[in-house]
Amino acid sequence: EKGGYPHFMLKEIHEQPKALRDTMTGRLYPERGEVRLDDIKITKEELENLKKIFIVACGTAYHAGVVGKYIIEKLARLPVEVDLASEFRYREPMVGKDTLVIIISQSGETADTLAALRESKKLGARVLAITNVVGSSVSREADDVLYTWAGPEIAVASTKAYSTQLVALNLIALHFAKLLGTISGEEFAEIALALKKLPDQAKVILDSESEIKKMAEEYAQREHIFYIGRGLDYAVALEGALKLKEISYIHAEAYAAGELKHGTLALVTEGVPVISLVTQEHLYEKTLSNIKEVKARGAAVIALANEGNEDIAKSADRVMYIPKTHPMLTPVLAVIPLQLFAYYAAVARGCDVDKPRNLAKSVTVE
Ligand code: F6R
Repeated sequence: EKGGYPHFMLKEIHEQPKALRDTMTGRLYPERGEVRLDDIKITKEELENLKKIFIVACGTAYHAGVVGKYIIEKLARLPVEVDLASEFRYREPMVGKDTLVIIISQSGETADTLAALRESKKLGARVLAITNVVGSSVSREADDVLYTWAGPEIAVASTKAYSTQLVALNLIALHFAKLLGTISGEEFAEIALALKKLPDQAKVILDSESEIKKMAEEYAQREHIFYIGRGLDYAVALEGALKLKEISYIHAEAYAAGELKHGTLALVTEGVPVISLVTQEHLYEKTLSNIKEVKARGAAVIALANEGNEDIAKSADRVMYIPKTHPMLTPVLAVIPLQLFAYYAAVARGCDVDKPRNLAKSVTVE
């Protein structure tokens, strides 16, 4: 049942090339400049009348939402707020007929997320759901549904659900941008072609997992690990830190790199690993200066960079490389080494990777 892998989590990490491909099949046509999302019926007029989009979810799905905010705002020029479902529902959210609520849930059954969906509908909002389970409560109650075709996810730690949620959010952003006329044909083609390359590029990362395994084993006995990045790299850092915490029980924190000097730097002492994401070229120099700050305090810097960035090797102790893609799509690739790092660190610590303590796959209580 685990297809020769020691754990479901590793199997599911390795299923990502297929899951990414399946999520795009029949939906994205770069040559024709077309994206077809048949179950999303929101019209151009409705989109034009929107004042705001909320993305609401829990855990890993919330982290996908943080990426979604960047890409929808960038491509469709609509303001997006990302919210944790357990916070959203208790604060009289400012949601109404002029709001679209995007609900993200792998299982489609998470109690807080489902309650947020119902609250949004009650307030008159249109609800679009991204889910992995056909016929789930979320899929039945939403107005529009976009399925991720990740296949069943059994390991408690979410992996292929996250990366396919990112693809789904990109498809939605492209779809909205086309309807609203906020994207040029050239930019559309560039992103669509880059999306199509992601499955093969994910495979390239998976083929070099032994290097990441070595790094994970080297740092597996540390008690604290920081993750830093700016922009989309910060969004991925959040997910990388969650993966490590939930399965290896190493204390991990993700920080927007520019926030370090507002307190956190005090915790970065001799030998503390700092996983530093630098895939966003327009932010590279800024994050590099933050890397130098942590280095000066004795941190062990593990950089996560685009292939071809040799400069980073001068400042980092170790480097994980990902193949070159469109700057908006780096999260889909960057998360993979971080998933592998968490997995191999947890295995090295003797943890029960597929069933971490105190966690359930589907959280149907509040
Ligand atoms: C983390 C993880 C959880 C879920 C969260 C939401 O690896 O799996 O954080 O992402 O419980 O679950 P869904 O997406 O099913 O609503």
